[in-house]
Amino acid sequence: MSEVTLPVSSTAHYRPETRLVHSGTLRSQFGETSEALFLTQGFVYDSAEQCEARFKGEDPGFLYSRFSNPNVSMFERRMIELEGAEAARATATGMAAVTTAVLAPLKAGDHVVAAKAMFGSCRYVVEDLLPRYGIGSTLVDGLDLDQWRRAMRPNTRTCFLESPTNPTLDVLDIGAIAEIAHQGGARLIVDNVFATPIWQSPLELGADVVVYSATKHIDGQGRCLGGIILSSEAFIAEHIHTFMRQTGPSMSPFNAWVLLKGLETLAVRVRAQTETAGAVADALARHPKISRLIYPGRSDHPQAALVKKQMRAGSTLVGFEVKGGKAAAFRCLNALKLSRISSVDHHPSAADAGSPRRTRHQRGFYPVLGGARAPRRSDRGFASRAGDGVRGARE
Ligand SMILES: Cc1ncc(COP(=O)(O)O)c(C=O)c1O
Repeated sequence: MSEVTLPVSSTAHYRPETRLVHSGTLRSQFGETSEALFLTQGFVYDSAEQCEARFKGEDPGFLYSRFSNPNVSMFERRMIELEGAEAARATATGMAAVTTAVLAPLKAGDHVVAAKAMFGSCRYVVEDLLPRYGIGSTLVDGLDLDQWRRAMRPNTRTCFLESPTNPTLDVLDIGAIAEIAHQGGARLIVDNVFATPIWQSPLELGADVVVYSATKHIDGQGRCLGGIILSSEAFIAEHIHTFMRQTGPSMSPFNAWVLLKGLETLAVRVRAQTETAGAVADALARHPKISRLIYPGRSDHPQAALVKKQMRAGSTLVGFEVKGGKAAAFRCLNALKLSRISSVDHHPSAADAGSPRRTRHQRGFYPVLGGARAPRRSDRGFASRAGDGVRGARE
């Protein structure tokens, strides 16, 4: 399947924290401690015979960085071992991962079922882009298993969901939806961005494919974009490898190197962010100007039992509404002292601004705090300032 079959010792039996540092490392002849950076688009060969053998897949090694590069390979390998997948392909962005995973296996006449509550760009791909190429799609209330069942058609090939959803933080039953998909002969693709690989393993729950925006927690420090598709050898070989090789939505070697460094600290950061998010949620839940708070780690989350069943902990993200609608939400944002307003911190209109369908606004939900930019260390001070914005949202 892949041109790259260089031997890498498996670290699958180690704990996730250990795998995040060591898995997939390829050392050059210089024996560097930190991974070397291979900013090359191509590779040279000892002979024409070796070049031919490499292109035929008979000689292990790299060919051309659009589809095989040491840094990208190391990043893929580390993610494979963390996620428990068989194979992976890294992409330039999270949206490149979603678009490739959803689109590449389909053809005109196929049908997709997806949950309505999802990131605006993902919804654009399912609802606007696919139908232009003759691929039908049905959007359902992801929490309602009967709607999933009723939406399945004989030509349904893919079910797609994210959980927890962006931005509404609904938690969808991955195992049950995988069963519905499989009974109908379809695959389930899960966008696991909000859960992170630390708190949720969709492949273990029955999903067939997992996608990430590595831009979020995996980098986690606002430095670069990236994405990844993880699945079985068969899915990657049959549907993803050739599509990526020929169309090129590939990850850059530099971003792969940055993301490898991000992975080393992923578990520590996600744990600390989750602790902070829980403290922020508890502080906001008691606040008189909050009309609605949603946090998957609290017992008042509508799917609290499901969170316990399919996630190892709550989330790094907290959603809440302030009383008084958009004007109050804007005053709340403008009064923030420590948390900065950014598209990642979910300005009420930011993440759907480019999407023809304003899902957040349709649902009347104005989340104003995203934990993705919360302090990387567990920070009680941050939690204690969480009320700043709300105090400023005077009506
Ligand atoms: C759930 C989800 N999926 C996919 C993406 C897209 O990722 P990227 O910005 O890396 O393209 C995002 C970005 O916010 C997201 O929140």
